[in-house]
Amino acid sequence: MTEAAGDVLYVIVSAAESASGVGELVTLAQDAGWIVQIVATPSALAFIDEAELERRTGRPVRSRYRKPHEPKPPRADAMIVAPATFNTINKFAQGITDTYALGVLAEAPGLGIPVVVLPFVNDALAARTPYRRSLDDLRADGVRIVLDPGDNPWQRALEELGARPSGALASDTV
Ligand SMILES: Cc1cc2nc3c(=O)[nH]c(=O)nc-3n(C[C@H](O)[C@H](O)[C@H](O)COP(=O)(O)O)c2cc1C
Repeated sequence: MTEAAGDVLYVIVSAAESASGVGELVTLAQDAGWIVQIVATPSALAFIDEAELERRTGRPVRSRYRKPHEPKPPRADAMIVAPATFNTINKFAQGITDTYALGVLAEAPGLGIPVVVLPFVNDALAARTPYRRSLDDLRADGVRIVLDPGDNPWQRALEELGARPSGALASDTV
């Protein structure tokens, strides 16, 4: 496993238009002392400036499962899913792991890693019963959902994390 000197925040990016602004969250998190690892869904790669985010974080953007011989990334101390799509939220709630982003999310509640989800979902989708059920199921697993983020959703998501976590269990699977 590659160890990082400091607390590691996984910023998990899914494919909403606002993903293009996630660099602001990176900067805010770094200013707060986090080492940031970007994990993007494959669809989100079309929305982000991968090279710019790698320059800012000093780490490769991860969007696929590693090959068995490749080193593990640093363990996450916390995760923010931002922006979180309808698709990724519903799959996270269902325990589906068909993207690397969902794979790391699937384990997080069981490992005691705090997870904040910042949905970017339009009113038509947000009104759907499966979506509302997903939010309830995620809350039941201790996942925090930011529904009314105000003027600065990135800042609000970071604030929701609150104090630094400690003592999360190690993952051996991803
Ligand atoms: C320009 C554009 C903007 C989109 N914005 C959103 C959005 O804000 N929220 C959302 O849930 N889906 C949005 N979508 C649809 C998602 O990209 C699509 O459901 C995708 O399969 C999500 O994949 P992911 O959850 O693996 O990232 C958008 C699609 C496009 C083409």
